[in-house]
Amino acid sequence: MENAVEKKFRNYDESVVKAAVREHYRKMRQNQTYEYVNRMKEKYQTFDKPMMLWDAMERLNALIDVSDPDLDLPNVQHLIQSAEALRADNRPDWMQLVGLIHDLGKVMYLWGSDDDGTSQNEQWGLVGDVFVVGCALPDTCVYPEFNALNPDMQDARYNTTIGIYEPGCGLDHLTLAWGHDEYLYQVLQHHKENKIPEEGMVMIRYHSFYPWHNGGSYEHFMNERDRLYKEWILDFNQYDLYTKSQQIYDLDDIKSYYMPIAEKYLGKKPIMW
Ligand SMILES: [Fe+2]
Ligand SMILES: [Fe+2]
Repeated sequence: MENAVEKKFRNYDESVVKAAVREHYRKMRQNQTYEYVNRMKEKYQTFDKPMMLWDAMERLNALIDVSDPDLDLPNVQHLIQSAEALRADNRPDWMQLVGLIHDLGKVMYLWGSDDDGTSQNEQWGLVGDVFVVGCALPDTCVYPEFNALNPDMQDARYNTTIGIYEPGCGLDHLTLAWGHDEYLYQVLQHHKENKIPEEGMVMIRYHSFYPWHNGGSYEHFMNERDRLYKEWILDFNQYDLYTKSQQIYDLDDIKSYYMPIAEKYLGKKPIMW
């Protein structure tokens, strides 16, 4: 992607970005500790709430992502814009589906809370670029000046480059800040009928991991497979990032095209959230 284009999106300059975006990242950096993430995993990864895929899509009509400096439409519009761009480029059907659902983990807000940062009002445990917990925060995070606010950075177990991990351990062995990526990934991992290929699951799990895929940090944790992961993520990222516009779609209009693809890869049964 060209620099001029990149400047147009993800511009976090004070003058351009709403104070709310900056405040979101301050809270996220302050609250997302290793202990917090593990507590959230235990609390939200219960897979006991049945909801149909399309109902989940409709529920995202009511959510606006406060961390996004580029878009202030209901989140479901961003999902449709991503999917339609993949479709226009004739990308594989499973990838179009991934575009359509990659942010669906944000339905966590339906049973979230302000205290956990997983609600409509407080989204610091739901959305935004993620980083690794359990090791030092890199200055490739947006607003790196907030890194020092993270309590783990005062904890000798967690504030070194390697922290609690092993060099070369691979991305899948890291614990990332809690949010919609990991949540949807885990929900789909537990969905027995899931046939989305590995590439798609990786796109879902790591699309918000900007300090890694965009900032070049955490190289020392990468294994061979992660080189491929990065290619897949960067390929997907152009549809996540550069398709944002004011174009509004009607969810009902696109249903007849995407439902057969959704059923091909996810079956017809409800998903357990
Ligand atoms: Fe996302
Ligand atoms: Fe997205």
